[in-house]
Amino acid sequence: MAEIETIVSLAKRRGFVFQSSEIYGGFGSFWDYGPLGVELKNNIKRAWWRSVIYERDDMVGLDSSILMNRLVWKYSGHEDTFSDPMVDCRQCKSRLRADKIEDNKCPVCGSKNLTPPRPFNLMFRTTVGPVEDDSGMAYLRPETAQGIFVNYKNVLDSTNRKLPFGIAQIGKSFRNEITTGNFIFRTREFEQMEIEYFVKPPHGLAEGEASDDEHHERWLEDRYNWYLSLGIRQSDLRKFEQPKEELAHYSKRTVDLQYRFFPERDEEEKQWDELEGIANRTDYDLKAHSKKPLDAEGKRLNADSTADLTYFDQATNQHLFPYVIEPSAGVDRSVLAFLLNAYHEEEVRGEKRVVLRLHNELAPIKIAVLPLAKNKDGIVKLAKDIKARLQRTGAMRAVYDDTAGIGKLYRRQDEVGTPLCLTVDHQSLEDNQVTIRDRDSMLQERIPIAEVETTIRTKLGLAT
Ligand code: GAP
Repeated sequence: MAEIETIVSLAKRRGFVFQSSEIYGGFGSFWDYGPLGVELKNNIKRAWWRSVIYERDDMVGLDSSILMNRLVWKYSGHEDTFSDPMVDCRQCKSRLRADKIEDNKCPVCGSKNLTPPRPFNLMFRTTVGPVEDDSGMAYLRPETAQGIFVNYKNVLDSTNRKLPFGIAQIGKSFRNEITTGNFIFRTREFEQMEIEYFVKPPHGLAEGEASDDEHHERWLEDRYNWYLSLGIRQSDLRKFEQPKEELAHYSKRTVDLQYRFFPERDEEEKQWDELEGIANRTDYDLKAHSKKPLDAEGKRLNADSTADLTYFDQATNQHLFPYVIEPSAGVDRSVLAFLLNAYHEEEVRGEKRVVLRLHNELAPIKIAVLPLAKNKDGIVKLAKDIKARLQRTGAMRAVYDDTAGIGKLYRRQDEVGTPLCLTVDHQSLEDNQVTIRDRDSMLQERIPIAEVETTIRTKLGLAT
């Protein structure tokens, strides 16, 4: 299995991921996606969107703004609790996460001269409007979830949904992480794919209805199987029950899907880390954002909200706050997991072959059209015509490349995970046939030009 360092080098060399602001020496844990990285990322997001929205009848999508009213973060609990315990090393001035320190020793310089831990809020601040004072202060969202909660009623009213139903969203989130590193595993700007799935609370269940716990289990299975369906090896994916004392402030139970991101670490337990978290957030958020009835002392608990976020359940004739199951995945961690999972090195005729065995659906380029000789007009024209025809189908990303000999062109495509290469040669001009080469088996097959599109669609598993 590949190590992250191998992927970092491939990612830079072949244009998947670059360091942000590299020509100015980079910038603390921000990354840019290159020509192939953006295709891979988009393919992951498309596969997720299709699986959680189009292939279900109980889900809709949303795209909410990154900056929101500061009160959203006050009532969600993030202003008070979204922090990591931080210590400073008085010796080398490193700022460190207290929970990552072993033996009370600075991991950078080894000094034991550390400050006591204190909370450090992870939300980035910015100012909205021309006056730079507290009245315009806003946070860059640290999760996309809150955009869903504050739109819950809008979606409910505009789509006439009944429980259970869910809202999915893909978007950027920002956290001023204290400890970063490990490439795109933990960054300060990242993308999330989040679902808030609203279900009946335990006290509102009618006969035969699934409970919040059952919905939680179902989502856990669905999300686990989604990664397997896209080629993640079962031996590198596991479910991890978060200990009660580590649960986020809103969670009744969270199970992480962990991937073996760090196979090079000696200790087996340290090889695994979170790819996606699947939490039962109960009715915490909807209650927190809801204009509530007066409490015992005659005060409103949320005096700022104008919304009643209860759901009227016709079956039981009562208003209730739905419970929420939240599968929350990271796009960047998915990119990393799919790259690590796909990377293979093998020896072919005495030479090293690097091949990314990416699932067809995720491969940035589906087919490369390669002319065997570029000085023969007919071959180049035919190859370019085939490439243009394939691109016009709108079903796949095809590329044309004639910048090297055929052996090198194949190796380049193998290294970026292109499942198929199509080669046009001298013979093609006479017999109207071309060669299709399979990335994984390297087997070659001669097919009539007239059948190129259907053959490729079948091989890639696209609708014909
Ligand atoms: N709304 C719930 C939530 O945000 P989380 O476990 O903090 O839960 C969910 O984040 C997912 O977002 C994680 O499983 C991970 O894939 C991704 N993620 C979180 N912080 C990240 C970071 N600093 N860099 C990259 N991805 C991150």
